[in-house]
Amino acid sequence: TLATAARSLEVPQEYSSRTPPYSKLVGKLQQVRRIVGDEPLTLAEKILYSHLVDPEESLQGRLSDIRGQQYLKLNPDRVAMQDASAQMALLQFMTCGMSSTVVPASIHCDHLIVGKDGEKEDLVSSISTNKEVFDFLQSCGEKYGIQFWGPGSGIIHQIVLENFSVPGLMMLGTDSHTPNAGGLGAIAIGVGGADAVDALTGTPWELKAPKILGVKLTGHLSKWSTPKDVITYLAGILTVRGGTGYIVEYFGEGVESLSCTGMATICNMGAEIGATTSTFPYQDAHRRYLIQTNREPISRAADAVNKEYGFLQADKGAQYDKVIEINLLELEPHVNGPFTPDLSTPISSFGEVAAKEKWPSTVSAGLIGSCTNSSYQDMSRAVSIIRQAEKAGLKPKIPFFVTPGSEQIRATIERDGLLETFENNGAVVLANACGPCIGQWDRGDVSKDSTDFNAIFTSFNRNFKARNDGNRNTMNFLTSPDMVTAMIYSGDMSFNPITDSIKLEDGLEFRFEPPSGAELPSSGFEKGRAEFYPEADPKPKPEVQVNVSPESDRLQLLDPFKPWNGEELLTHVLLKVEGKCTTDHISAAGAWLKYKGHLENISYNTLIGAVNKETGEVNKAYDLDGSPYGIPELMIKWKEEHRPWVVVAEHNYGEGSAREHAALSPRFLGGSIILVKSFARIHETNLKKQGMLPLTFANEQDYDRISGGDVLTTVNLREMISKGGDNGGSLTVHVTKKDGSEFDIECKHTMSKDQVEFFKAGSAINYIGNQKK
Ligand code: F3S
Repeated sequence: TLATAARSLEVPQEYSSRTPPYSKLVGKLQQVRRIVGDEPLTLAEKILYSHLVDPEESLQGRLSDIRGQQYLKLNPDRVAMQDASAQMALLQFMTCGMSSTVVPASIHCDHLIVGKDGEKEDLVSSISTNKEVFDFLQSCGEKYGIQFWGPGSGIIHQIVLENFSVPGLMMLGTDSHTPNAGGLGAIAIGVGGADAVDALTGTPWELKAPKILGVKLTGHLSKWSTPKDVITYLAGILTVRGGTGYIVEYFGEGVESLSCTGMATICNMGAEIGATTSTFPYQDAHRRYLIQTNREPISRAADAVNKEYGFLQADKGAQYDKVIEINLLELEPHVNGPFTPDLSTPISSFGEVAAKEKWPSTVSAGLIGSCTNSSYQDMSRAVSIIRQAEKAGLKPKIPFFVTPGSEQIRATIERDGLLETFENNGAVVLANACGPCIGQWDRGDVSKDSTDFNAIFTSFNRNFKARNDGNRNTMNFLTSPDMVTAMIYSGDMSFNPITDSIKLEDGLEFRFEPPSGAELPSSGFEKGRAEFYPEADPKPKPEVQVNVSPESDRLQLLDPFKPWNGEELLTHVLLKVEGKCTTDHISAAGAWLKYKGHLENISYNTLIGAVNKETGEVNKAYDLDGSPYGIPELMIKWKEEHRPWVVVAEHNYGEGSAREHAALSPRFLGGSIILVKSFARIHETNLKKQGMLPLTFANEQDYDRISGGDVLTTVNLREMISKGGDNGGSLTVHVTKKDGSEFDIECKHTMSKDQVEFFKAGSAINYIGNQKK
């Protein structure tokens, strides 16, 4: 019987690199069950815990004691990287000296493509501007056997959904919207490059066991409501921090009314509530999507693993840390924004709220697509709205842009006549790439520096200031593609497509019918142009040279950071930071994105947004003789003088994103310690991965006793290191003030055994490299 069950999990050879190792995973699941006894498991726990390196070591106590408390060591199945973050991930991977990756991986060129005039023109110019970076990524792909999806092939998360996401898979992606893959029942987590290197090198990846937030969906979606409204509504309830430390797991009969791509939209925007990731139980919709995307054998294996072992569903009676219930029948379309994705307004009151808040009275552009909403269903519903308007003789009142998520989607909507409808009705169809979603929107009608507010409606996922067109005064309202498309025919902020009508030229009133669309194309997906597809299972080619020119200002090979010299750390306080200090303050984005692959150049942005507590100035620090410097300039000077430094700061230091440059740059510029009142967890981990020592004050008041130029020397670091960190404890630091007075302060650290090894080796990458060698 066992042999028959195991056979049912097998897939033909050509599918094996895209199928989770089901036999191994269910073996681990059985081991997990033996450990947790009769406690029912949630779906998220089943997938996560079946990827544990050693369930016995990681799972100690009741499930409720594990969640939010214990650290898990996991072996992910796959890695995906986008072009901006892949540069540093691969530069770090290269220093490990391996000839190939341990797990399958893919690179996707999407973020560096500008959206302006349309696919053809934009691709040519973006490829020429970024040629050096794309060539680097491609040669890394060839050398190490990583699939390279070139510019124009599509957006990372859409390609992952179409090709790699599978129920029960666990993957890491170097992009915060990686959880999109949870729409197909995977656990997919967004990480920084150093974490991706863990998975690429087969080093266990550490994660604090998340709590589980259950979202029960009842009823079914109908008429104007879409999956996008589930998550925009939920963001309104939970806010941008409500999902922090949680995996969101959806359940309930309402799930059955969702398409697989709709579930992906919901999981995608779980990032907007701060969730670790989101996922859905295995559904018929998943089976249909796997079959339509040419993965029928994988769907059969998923069927079997679910039927035989209940692997892809929560156990009956599974306990969630919190449950939120949403009745889909009562859900109306929502519009979220401006400037934060959790400011959620139902469409029925949006006009009123817009007037009250004095938001612009007209909309200046509509944009649909992106990784969040460019499925066949999204596109066909949008076209059904356009065709109604076309029939009534209506013309768009505002510019309209469409970003297909992949070549497969673009080619399929072209074959089925949807693309033609878009273009005949004035839409600009942009390249299959991120474009306007990541500030790469070269917009002709509104200047970047305009001081007047303008409003845009998009089906994207994020709406921070300057996110789309670089203009801080563009208010991005996030909503479903249906709402965006209907809005282009009105342009009036108070327009509600469900209840309002538009006056036609002949004086008659026109009102939209609810949109309709196909979940999947009836004639299957069209692959599209062959040049956008990489080799299916690339083998590593060690003979390939990865060229990084020493003259390049975009790419720079990494020199390993120096290992710890075995001595106590003697550091000078370079800066005492006042108030909020996010990863944006520490490592600014915007124009600096260009230097993501060049550590030296991007480090000129280090802490330029930070406020000096002692003077109130931004980007100002003082040398020991009192001379003023820009913060990175003083760091460079002290690095040259071999003067290690410490930055002192307040609460939640490093909040925001997983941006690893916020840890890499301080380390590169000679930083040794960051001493704060509290850390954002991911940033604290990133600092440890780069060989820095993150400390917190045991008594917060000690922050007030420290000034720029003071000397801080650790007292018992050697002892702590020799004990292997002990998963946290105290550390004494001796302070010598500039006036010669001296005292000790108590600090806390959270170093684990592995993190102590990173510190000793100089960085996690050095440690991994040493192990591999
Ligand atoms: Fe790209 Fe925007 Fe998605 S930047 S990956 S389309 S969130």
